[in-house]
Amino acid sequence: MNDNICIKNVTVSFTAKAGIVQAVNHIDAIFNSGEITGIIGETGSGKSVLGLSVLRLLAENSRVTGNIIYQDRDILQLPAQELNQLRGKTIAFIPQNTDTAFNPVMTVGRQIGEGAAYHHNIPQAAARRQAIEQLRRYAFQEPQTVAARYPFQLSGGMRQRALCAMSTALSPKWLIADEPTKGLDAIIRRQVFQLFHDLKASAGISVMLITHDLRLAEKLCDAIFVLYAGTVLEQGTAGEIFAGPLHPYTRGLINAQPHKTLTPLPGMPPSLIDLPAGCKFQPRCSCRKSICRLQEPPLQAINGRRQVRCWQYA
Ligand SMILES: Nc1ncnc2c1ncn2[C@@H]1O[C@H](COP(=O)(O)OP(=O)(O)OP(=O)(O)O)[C@@H](O)[C@H]1O
Ligand SMILES: [Mg+2]
Repeated sequence: MNDNICIKNVTVSFTAKAGIVQAVNHIDAIFNSGEITGIIGETGSGKSVLGLSVLRLLAENSRVTGNIIYQDRDILQLPAQELNQLRGKTIAFIPQNTDTAFNPVMTVGRQIGEGAAYHHNIPQAAARRQAIEQLRRYAFQEPQTVAARYPFQLSGGMRQRALCAMSTALSPKWLIADEPTKGLDAIIRRQVFQLFHDLKASAGISVMLITHDLRLAEKLCDAIFVLYAGTVLEQGTAGEIFAGPLHPYTRGLINAQPHKTLTPLPGMPPSLIDLPAGCKFQPRCSCRKSICRLQEPPLQAINGRRQVRCWQYA
């Protein structure tokens, strides 16, 4: 038994007024324990939905099929009580929006201590002491003061760090972090980078890192999944992906960065209610051939962990 998270043929759809939203389409992905794995892709590509599906945190209107295997069990089939044990204690989730992640009317210290109080059944005072220690670990100079504050009294960077402190308070094996550097300035982004680096190196926490920040992904991640319209278009080690992207979409994402050519990807992502035939990226692809409109390419193994879904390589 290993600690990898194996996503097998997972599909997530939502029932909406306009129709069925196909947010995640037949994703197979292995997230290796001991590694930081990045999930990158344009807005709406299904990154958050995939992350949320691992802990079954999706909205009521969702339908999930497939298997998410962790320690020989299918998370999608776990009874509620076991799922509650897994959440936070074994696999923690840092949501995309730090403003809504905290309870606005409870102090930061109380919230950090809540998990310990719930899972380990310890008294409030002890939980509070643990919360202060946890804040100290996350480089807060005055953890007592921070613990006594309400979330709105912290700056964006401090809230992000406090959220990491809260999420890792129970020493989880896995952390799923959704956009941990969103809206942060360069200095704080470096702090968050260091934080994740240390989580893996010192605390031995494996990470699923959902991000638009490709420089962060390049520096921090061991492996990368590139998502488009709920489909994996390319995967491999971060070194391979960033040094030599194979898929035209991955190349486009990398080139769109400010420190590269700043060339935006042409066109818009497709409607997830009415996905294009063939390759989902073909309407926007400069390398399109006639087969691309007709048939979706398979995810083709290139070498080792490198796989790409493009007819150029099939
Ligand atoms: N409850 C829901 N009902 C209907 N559609 C939904 C629901 N939740 C998510 N979606 C849709 O699923 C698609 C994927 O959303 P998701 O949040 O995973 O994108 P994302 O890649 O995380 O984007 P971003 O980078 O902007 O965070 C989007 O089109 C979104 O509108
Ligand atoms: Mg998202």
